[in-house]
Amino acid sequence: MRFRTRAIHVGQEPDPASGAIVPPVHVASTFVQPDASMTAAYDYARTGSPTRNAFEHTLAALDGGSRALAFASGMAATHCVAQLLAPGDHIVTGTDIYGGTWRLFNRVLTGHGVAVTAVDTTDPDAVRRAVRPATRLVWIESPGNPLLSITDIAACAEIAHAAGALLACDATLSTPVITRPLELGADIVMHSATKYLGGHSDLLGGALVTADAELGSRLHWLQNATGAVMGPWESFLCSRGLKTLELRVLAQAATALRIAEWLRSHPLVRRVHYPGLAGHPGHALASRQMNGVYGAMVSFEIAAAGGDDVVRARRVVEATRIFRLAVSLGAVESLIELPAVMSHGSYDPEARRACGIVDGLVRLSVGLEAFEDLRDDLAAAIDQAS
Ligand SMILES: Cc1ncc(COP(=O)(O)O)c(C=O)c1O
Repeated sequence: MRFRTRAIHVGQEPDPASGAIVPPVHVASTFVQPDASMTAAYDYARTGSPTRNAFEHTLAALDGGSRALAFASGMAATHCVAQLLAPGDHIVTGTDIYGGTWRLFNRVLTGHGVAVTAVDTTDPDAVRRAVRPATRLVWIESPGNPLLSITDIAACAEIAHAAGALLACDATLSTPVITRPLELGADIVMHSATKYLGGHSDLLGGALVTADAELGSRLHWLQNATGAVMGPWESFLCSRGLKTLELRVLAQAATALRIAEWLRSHPLVRRVHYPGLAGHPGHALASRQMNGVYGAMVSFEIAAAGGDDVVRARRVVEATRIFRLAVSLGAVESLIELPAVMSHGSYDPEARRACGIVDGLVRLSVGLEAFEDLRDDLAAAIDQAS
């Protein structure tokens, strides 16, 4: 089956009891046992539930994995991977990563004796130089958030494996429609299901997908032992979201490319970050790794022209009417934000600036609205800010 067909049919068989075309939402927390030996498919909903498993089954099929696990949030999924580590272990991670991941690694894990080295993962040699004998995990995000940097997943997999480490890839921004990191050698794919998988800004969720069944079982053991599982309603909404994932992502990415091209030619815009633009440093790699579709996130800097670019950027994000001023991304409605004070406010400010996430950076999540309306909204906001 092709991707779009799998998204609709795998794990989503009609209910055998009623014939209902949409599998029912199972809200039960516990399941009656045929005997005391715990041999039934389900016993307790933290360990597994039919509605969560249906979403996991579909997602594993889309990412080319053998096992998917659904969590209460993206951060819960990332934290589950972190629980594979022990004091003394070392992580190599990127500099262009989600602020909450930066906080988990640098503010939480370091307190438990895990060492963290952040490098520009778009440079495989920098990753190679950063690995040590104690490195157990290389964590990358591609495209990165918020600078849309592109990391070579296959090259990082080779480096991680040569060092005896796992490669985990946060693929929230690309989704399995655009990039399937397991096919490129990654061991674990992480998604914030809050974003494109759900797609409608109405749930919090996360997921891990593995190709290796044994690694999937270890992560499931940790998930069950620690408990941050996705609930049945979120699982149902995610299953519904997956059915339109390909259509939404392709349409949103097509509009994002037009927005990026328009911004690039705008006289008051200094810099546009979008991997679909020929001048983007990761463009050639993205063309291979992202199947020629570059995602629906764009970030840009307003030209200061003698003024204060942070004040100007703030005026832009506060002036749009269709782009709503909010964190998060990946839904049908377009969002605009200032990473330095919003999505990436949990970074240490010096570390953030050193990573190139400047105070005046504006980030867009391009939704499903008409390109012309989004362009006119941005044009008016940039004009009034200048
Ligand atoms: C790229 C990326 N990874 C992970 C997360 C964390 O996901 P959640 O908010 O679902 O915990 C986010 C949230 O914004 C994100 O943008």
